[in-house]
Amino acid sequence: MLAISGLDFTVGSLDILQGIELAVHEHEFVCIVGASGCGKTTLLRMMAGLLTPTRGEVMFRGAPVSGPRPEIAVVFQDYGRALLPWRTVAGNVELALEARRVPRSERAGIVDEMLARVGLADRKDAFPTQLSGGMQQRLQIARCMAQSPQVLLMDEPFGALDAMTRQGLQDEVARLCSESGVTVVFITHDLEEAIYLGDRVVAMDRHPGRLAETIAIDLERPRNQLTTREDARFLAYRHQLFHLLPPGH
Ligand SMILES: Nc1ncnc2c1ncn2[C@@H]1O[C@H](COP(=O)(O)OP(=O)(O)OP(=O)(O)O)[C@@H](O)[C@H]1O
Ligand SMILES: [Mg+2]
Repeated sequence: MLAISGLDFTVGSLDILQGIELAVHEHEFVCIVGASGCGKTTLLRMMAGLLTPTRGEVMFRGAPVSGPRPEIAVVFQDYGRALLPWRTVAGNVELALEARRVPRSERAGIVDEMLARVGLADRKDAFPTQLSGGMQQRLQIARCMAQSPQVLLMDEPFGALDAMTRQGLQDEVARLCSESGVTVVFITHDLEEAIYLGDRVVAMDRHPGRLAETIAIDLERPRNQLTTREDARFLAYRHQLFHLLPPGH
């Protein structure tokens, strides 16, 4: 679905990313973990076509990604800046439908469905600033899903949220993604979040940023915040990743 090969990114004499090779398969949920500054956002921006690599390439279904495209949606960490404050909740979701040129008569129904899926149906006439952080992030996710993407790229989407909101959203995203069959690349610096959500976890090393190790996650779905996190396999994956990426690394 998405194939990155021989990708380097250099700024001046600084090697930011080096020799990145990654193939993401259709319907797969791949998590990338790494310390702050290792190049996760830079890599995601290249997958989204927002930044051009110095060497190598990103391919989507066999064609080079040379700019943003409607099949690839991005959820940013900073939901405050991703949403349009002068548009209502419904208006923000509708934006994706306008971009897809969905006829006006069909838009309201799709907006209602997307908002119901993320639990915001009763807030459709509110403005983003009237919502909590968790709700704003759910709105950004609803807008991305309304884009009907084949690939969803998420850059630390829950980084700014408290632990309880975060766990609720992890379950919502897992459910939405499995229902829609979208392929996901999810970036986080939270090892447990990566194991909880991923089919595969890719650990990144830094200076220069490169992919260090890949762990296939063999845990049943749907996952459960209590039982999955207590599962011996979950703890073994955590152990393995903790050694690769110790705190303060
Ligand atoms: N255009 C650029 N010019 C110079 N340096 C850059 C540029 N883009 C990124 N960098 C540097 O590349 C490194 C990786 O940045 P990036 O934002 O991708 O890290 P990150 O892994 O997403 O970090 P965080 O977890 O804090 O979000 C950083 O050292 C950053 O300063
Ligand atoms: Mg980042």
